[in-house]
Amino acid sequence: MTVLSVDEAKRLAAARAAELIRPGMKLGLGTGSTAKHFVDLVGEKVKAGMDLICVPTSEQTAAQARALGIRLSTLDETPELDLTVDGADEFDTKMRLIKGGGGALLREKIVAAASKKMIVITDRSKQVEVLGKFPLPVEVVPFGLEATRRRVEKICRMTGTRGPVKLRMGADGKPFLTDGGHYILDCECGMISYPDAVATALAATPGVVEHGLFIGLAKAVIVADSAGVDIIGDLG
Ligand code: 5RP
Repeated sequence: MTVLSVDEAKRLAAARAAELIRPGMKLGLGTGSTAKHFVDLVGEKVKAGMDLICVPTSEQTAAQARALGIRLSTLDETPELDLTVDGADEFDTKMRLIKGGGGALLREKIVAAASKKMIVITDRSKQVEVLGKFPLPVEVVPFGLEATRRRVEKICRMTGTRGPVKLRMGADGKPFLTDGGHYILDCECGMISYPDAVATALAATPGVVEHGLFIGLAKAVIVADSAGVDIIGDLG
């Protein structure tokens, strides 16, 4: 057995997802180091002459795709996509996800929801029994930040843990700004035993734009490790 690095496993998962691409497809392009491999493979197909239209989930992915010569569109021009392929920060066996480690969760969720199929690509280290080890990103508007933060903290306590809810900071020492001009609260929940309840409560909180719990969106998760590729769900 060849031992794969985490990055090699990410690339292997991306390669399996790239096998699903057909000429003429409208694709959603995810964000992050795993999705980056997938975008590279889309670029190779475009270079080889395949006609594809792609909607990126972040400015970062848009820049990569443009550099590769991939034709980009928006959800206004192309409101229905065939397939979106994206990474995740955590997933469980029910294909519930935590996303937003890269700060792109809002666009990622909108693009996934506009797709007939969302397929997640990941290495095995992201699999958990119970979501919540990875701090849950929650995108909020800057107005009323502290009031919103406290409300979000109360909701996170529904999970039975009392980790902090922290404003994400950028490398410049200022609050991290999303592509939509919002802030991110990273919520150290520990264990999210009732993700549906937490998702519902967060979605109903004034000031919250979107949260990183993706429930019922992924049709399949392609998981790679040194043993090969494993599929949870249905790629069909
Ligand atoms: C960005 C995301 C990414 O999909 C998630 O952070 C996984 O990133 P990576 O593939 O780099 O591990 O949700 O908002």
